[in-house]
Amino acid sequence: MNNSHDVWRGSFCIEVSPIPNTIVIFGASGDLTHRKLLPALFHLYRKKLLHENSIIVGCARTPMTDEEFKDKVTERLAGVAAKFSEEFTSFIDKVFYHTGHYDDPNTYAELALKLCKLEKQRCPDACRVYYLSTPSNIYIDIVSLLGEAGLTHESSSGMPWRHVVIEKPFGHDLKSAEIIDRQLHKTLRESQIYRIDHYLGKETVQNIMMMRFANIIFEPIWNNHYISNVQITAAESIGVEHRAGYYEQSGLLRDMFQNHMLEMLSLVAMEAPASFEANAVRNEKLKLIQSIRPFTPASVKNDFIRGQYGAGKVYSEDVPAYRAEENVAPESMIETYACGRFFIDNWRWRGVPFYIRSGKRLANRTSEIAITFKQVPHSIFNPIRPEDLSPNQLVLNIQPEEGMALSIEAKQPGPKLCMGTLTMDFKYSEVFDSTALGAYERLLLDCMLGDQTLFIRNDIIKASWELFEPVLNAWETPGTDIPLHIYESGGQGPEQADLRFFKDGLRWRKI
Ligand SMILES: NC(=O)c1ccc[n+]([C@@H]2O[C@H](COP(=O)([O-])OP(=O)(O)OC[C@H]3O[C@@H](n4cnc5c(N)ncnc54)[C@H](OP(=O)(O)O)[C@@H]3O)[C@@H](O)[C@H]2O)c1
Repeated sequence: MNNSHDVWRGSFCIEVSPIPNTIVIFGASGDLTHRKLLPALFHLYRKKLLHENSIIVGCARTPMTDEEFKDKVTERLAGVAAKFSEEFTSFIDKVFYHTGHYDDPNTYAELALKLCKLEKQRCPDACRVYYLSTPSNIYIDIVSLLGEAGLTHESSSGMPWRHVVIEKPFGHDLKSAEIIDRQLHKTLRESQIYRIDHYLGKETVQNIMMMRFANIIFEPIWNNHYISNVQITAAESIGVEHRAGYYEQSGLLRDMFQNHMLEMLSLVAMEAPASFEANAVRNEKLKLIQSIRPFTPASVKNDFIRGQYGAGKVYSEDVPAYRAEENVAPESMIETYACGRFFIDNWRWRGVPFYIRSGKRLANRTSEIAITFKQVPHSIFNPIRPEDLSPNQLVLNIQPEEGMALSIEAKQPGPKLCMGTLTMDFKYSEVFDSTALGAYERLLLDCMLGDQTLFIRNDIIKASWELFEPVLNAWETPGTDIPLHIYESGGQGPEQADLRFFKDGLRWRKI
């Protein structure tokens, strides 16, 4: 499948350009802003998906003038700035900076004046996106002070809108998530809150819905009659890096399961929404999460494994154990690996195990969803038995290479009875050119368009914390007898992860 003309016949592409937006980024001196947000905004601008009258205002405590911030952005985006110099010059003209402390009301009063002045020159009716790219413990301060300064006010018509983008983590547990939610809602309506999970902006993740609901062939077999099990993996080869401060409070379950993993599970397993519209899609996700069999203290012991990386070699390089990383407690019990077995108690999925795992310092960086179908009921190819034939498997690859692969049994050239597994492999990069939007581009654009489909609603956050609360409680109870398995860096994770769940030759797929 190398030639795009062979595969991509007839397309129906709709991309809407937004009206003018003012994008205010709090925490604009930080990593996310420079590594993801500003490059994404520049790419949108190049693709004419950022309105000519839009402006971008960075806001943070680090003192900088507009010019110094522009210089910093230019320096950080040196590669693209040099390559697309003309477009970059007109992009950087739209970039400004405001210095201020996040807990100081004057910051917001001065910001309001600055925004009015800048918008007056370009588009007085611009909509606004406030992107909170700061540590999460100051989100509430920022939102309430934005509100007090009148900066989040929308008229009854909702226009021009004021949207607030919030990065995960969305709380630490159910209670803290509920408190954050109540606090946010003192200032904002749910339609103004855009909780971002960048996984949802990835092409392949969006494609799960297209694949399932724009084709007829999958639906009849997408159930417990034909599917034997589903494995969802998000593996990283890197360790905790510079995030130990956060990670020591969080651990992998909070960092990955409560959001990314559950989102992937719900996209694969949810019922068809009535339309590709924010609330229709999110209602189905919520229903699905609420249909997952709740964990109990007893089932946590059987259905979950936790691990922590020890020293080892990743891509031939020696790497230290988690407990030897900077800012990690020498006896830390934080998990860097988790896997679990989930059952969905509804008509479609009753009895089908969904195995979900994620970990750091594993052999490779890979995210995928593998759907394994049942074996054929009878083999007509005597003496080959049904169990000699590999079950069909559909693998949706999310990263590093977005694509999908379907394995089928097929005749191999040679003897009359000669069979093997053939994999039909499709890679996005080989079929489509590179015009697709990156995850942050997609999500920023949707926020500017007022489309919340790929953002997470508060009731979904609540349901997901409710689901994982028993697991966290069981693991974090002092004196718990649930082991934390130390696994060698650069491998497949704790061997107990295979032993616990699988019999009869079934295994976790190799990372
Ligand atoms: N980086 C990523 O790839 C990534 C991925 C997913 C989610 N996130 C989330 O996105 C947010 C931003 O990430 P980031 O990596 O850019 O964070 P960061 O670099 O640690 O912080 C962003 C900015 O926030 C300000 N800040 C830092 N610590 C602060 C504190 N204790 N009190 C007040 N202000 C503080 C700093 O600006 P000033 O000192 O100039 O005010 C800093 O430049 C975080 O919530 C993070 O969890 C990041």
